[in-house]
Amino acid sequence: MKYRVGVVGLGVMGRNLALNIERNGFPVVGYDLDEQKIVSLQAESKGKSLLGVRDLRKMFAALEDPRCILLMVPAGAAVDSALAQLSPYLKPGDIVIDGGNSHFLDTERRVREFDSHGIQFVGMGVSGGAEGAKWGPSIMPGGSLESWQVLAPILTAIAARAEDGEPCVTHIGPRGAGHYVKMVHNGIEYADMQLIAEAYDLLHRGLGLDAPAISRVFSSWNEGRLKSYLIEITANIFKKMDPDTGQPLVDLILDEAQQKGTGKWTGQNALEIGAPIPTIDAGLTSRILSALKLEREKAAMVLSGPIPRFEGNLADFISAVENALFASKITAYAQGTAMMMTASQEYGYNLNLREIAKIWRAGCIIRAGILENIMGAYERNPQLVNLMLDPYFQNALEGSQTDWRHVIQAAVGWGIPVPAMSASLAYFDAFRSERLPANLIQAQRDYFGAHTYQRIDRDGTFHTQWELE
Ligand code: 6PG
Repeated sequence: MKYRVGVVGLGVMGRNLALNIERNGFPVVGYDLDEQKIVSLQAESKGKSLLGVRDLRKMFAALEDPRCILLMVPAGAAVDSALAQLSPYLKPGDIVIDGGNSHFLDTERRVREFDSHGIQFVGMGVSGGAEGAKWGPSIMPGGSLESWQVLAPILTAIAARAEDGEPCVTHIGPRGAGHYVKMVHNGIEYADMQLIAEAYDLLHRGLGLDAPAISRVFSSWNEGRLKSYLIEITANIFKKMDPDTGQPLVDLILDEAQQKGTGKWTGQNALEIGAPIPTIDAGLTSRILSALKLEREKAAMVLSGPIPRFEGNLADFISAVENALFASKITAYAQGTAMMMTASQEYGYNLNLREIAKIWRAGCIIRAGILENIMGAYERNPQLVNLMLDPYFQNALEGSQTDWRHVIQAAVGWGIPVPAMSASLAYFDAFRSERLPANLIQAQRDYFGAHTYQRIDRDGTFHTQWELE
């Protein structure tokens, strides 16, 4: 019997994708060096076209042409070492897919290396965690159009479906485009998570709500325009009680956020290509700051601040936080999509923002009702420079603005840090400012470094002797 796909690396993601591919009618041969992982895959194989092997030669012999090999190993050196092991068995026409969270520049390099041997290398973003991998992730494949033509039936079958039945997969663009878009997805994920965490802090420290009450707030928000996977799981998290202590489990979790690197890459690349993403950066920096737990503990003993005291109508303030969260979320998506527009030019990725919003509507971690509106915005104007300029989002920001400012002002007064919400509002205010104080920056640069400046009243480049005689 011949198999359609070979999955290399049978960790949770690899195993679940293998099961998903097989369930959808494509026989799978899985390879791993770890005997235990093969045994556990074989345990699932009864009545299925699923084979586990510990020998690469066997895997390649079992595959039909064109052979598709899906690599599911941790990003970085492990990918290069797995590729080196596959190399002796590969032949022209084979398609090697990297379904991990690889850096897009590594993918670019690998595409070049494999191209010279006539082998198609596809960097493919996969979002949705372990459950998504098994039952339907959002899939972001890059690589050549030829490889997409071969892979499309398989990927379309295994991808999540949006409410309108559309599959959450599309050919993102050439070379590293798929991994690039997955990287930005993760940047938005960081921003979204931080914004939700700040809303929690305001409800908890600011208003004094306990976990069950906070759960109810998030549940009700999930009924409206904030509807999303992250809000839904947040509502569930606040419901979960610790069986040992009877306390809300979330209250017992150490407040140090960790990260695997993709959010950091988004920040690094944004600086590289000159794309402002302050809300995403705030999400990233907040995780780093949270990890300074020992320093924070010491500082808490010596640096004082106000004690939050809420006076006013509770329901009104909760509704204001909802507005602040929604407006901030819009700017996070605006930053991510604008960054992708810039990258599309920079790297020749030819990204289609409408299609990207479309395939993020289900399966992925940042799936949210707002993506339907983002899709609509790029339908109305494929060249939209910034999401905030689309009429729907313009109105939403206009309607939320007073509450947005009010909530941030309250947070500042209470001494509760809201770096992502503030960065979002500052982004909005800066973007809508025809004149920013950068004229002074230019004057300073010219003063100390003769870097020159331009004038608003005449053409040319100018330098001034700034020292007063
Ligand atoms: C997804 C996620 C996933 C990511 C984790 C952990 O789309 O399924 O983005 O790919 O690896 O969320 O990311 P951090 O460890 O960086 O938080």
